[in-house]
Amino acid sequence: MHVLVMAQAPVPGRVKTRLCPPCSAEQAAHLAEAALADTLTAALDAGADRCVLALEGPPGPWLPAGVEIVAQRGDSFGARLDAAWADAGGPGLQIGMDTPQVTSAILAAALDRLDDGAECLLGPATDGGWWAIALRSAPPALFAPVPMSRPDTGELQRRRCVALGLTVEALAPQRDVDSIADALAVAGMAPDTRFAAAVADLDLGFVGAAIGDRAAEHTAVLRATTGEVVPLDVTRWTNEATPAERALLARSVAPVVDLGCGPGRHVVALAERGVPVLGVDVSPAALGHARDRGATVLERSIFEPLPGSGRWGSALLLDGNIGIGGDPARLLARAAELLGPTGRLLVEVGDPGSPSVQLTVRVEAGGRHGPWFDWSLVAAEDIHALATATGWKVSDVWGDEGRWFAQLDR
Ligand SMILES: C[S@@+](CC[C@H](N)C(=O)[O-])C[C@H]1O[C@@H](n2cnc3c(N)ncnc32)[C@H](O)[C@@H]1O
Repeated sequence: MHVLVMAQAPVPGRVKTRLCPPCSAEQAAHLAEAALADTLTAALDAGADRCVLALEGPPGPWLPAGVEIVAQRGDSFGARLDAAWADAGGPGLQIGMDTPQVTSAILAAALDRLDDGAECLLGPATDGGWWAIALRSAPPALFAPVPMSRPDTGELQRRRCVALGLTVEALAPQRDVDSIADALAVAGMAPDTRFAAAVADLDLGFVGAAIGDRAAEHTAVLRATTGEVVPLDVTRWTNEATPAERALLARSVAPVVDLGCGPGRHVVALAERGVPVLGVDVSPAALGHARDRGATVLERSIFEPLPGSGRWGSALLLDGNIGIGGDPARLLARAAELLGPTGRLLVEVGDPGSPSVQLTVRVEAGGRHGPWFDWSLVAAEDIHALATATGWKVSDVWGDEGRWFAQLDR
């Protein structure tokens, strides 16, 4: 009996690209590597005779001892699955690398059912695919004819098994890590995994982990691969909104969505004025602070589907948030999608004469650092061209308390 793991080597730009943005290619690969390492550990501990890895790409330091490697072969993913089952031979259980929450006990229980005479066990994924299949023996071309990555792939695979004469039983459903929302949810359900630790690192990349950690707060910097180092005023995020920020908030049209709200000082300031407002952020640490202050917030990337899309009166991109995702044109287009036809975007920009650049940066704080991620800076004078290119009009640009802001209308 074997456990067969189908995996791609965690090479930046080749794996988990659906997490980009908000992740950089390196961050996505870091998450993929952690998920693969967790999966291989569970596979090795499941009590099978062999653990076989059908790998696309080179092995790396993430590969534990005791795993046999076979190279993936075939044009389509289905053909590769058929080839991997033929290479592994015999009865076994096969999984991918997108379910790091699956424990050795879950795999062992499936192997026991196979041992007890089950012919085929198929585990549905919550996105409509499947996360595991156990077979006494795999008929040829079991997978190749089934279309992959569709919301009905799991059901189509089940029908294919039945059509080939197999009696199919179900394994419990699991959530696949596909989007950043999946990554956050799966890390939450399996907090002791390497994957959860990698997601927590990601949080440091997004600044959240530095908040509330006194040592980190005072040493936090943003370092670019080009060598520039910008101090980060982490304590500002946890303070109340300043007079300049309150003056800016007075320009907003309800309801307001704060994109990358951090610990929620603007959400709180608006709610105190009776303005309906939602904060959105990917950082669980930052959102914990926001909730403690009574802010209404949602843990989600701003690039993922959001409630009220097309109906928000205003969106905020404050304190460097024009940098989110590393492509300001894409970000302004995304904001346009979220706002109604009369929507207003209030955005913080760089000082006049400061650089407008796309950078790869990481957060360093308290002797630790997060992974590299993409970020951008946009100087006050450059917001005009950017706005025009993305269907916005700049209504005002002003300085206050040594910071610069712009009001964009449709
Ligand atoms: C510089 S802080 C600004 C916080 C807040 N706007 C303020 O002024 O206090 C940037 C925030 O953006 C969040 N962030 C980064 N990428 C994001 C994304 N794709 N979706 C949502 N939030 C994101 C980070 O987690 C962080 O809390």
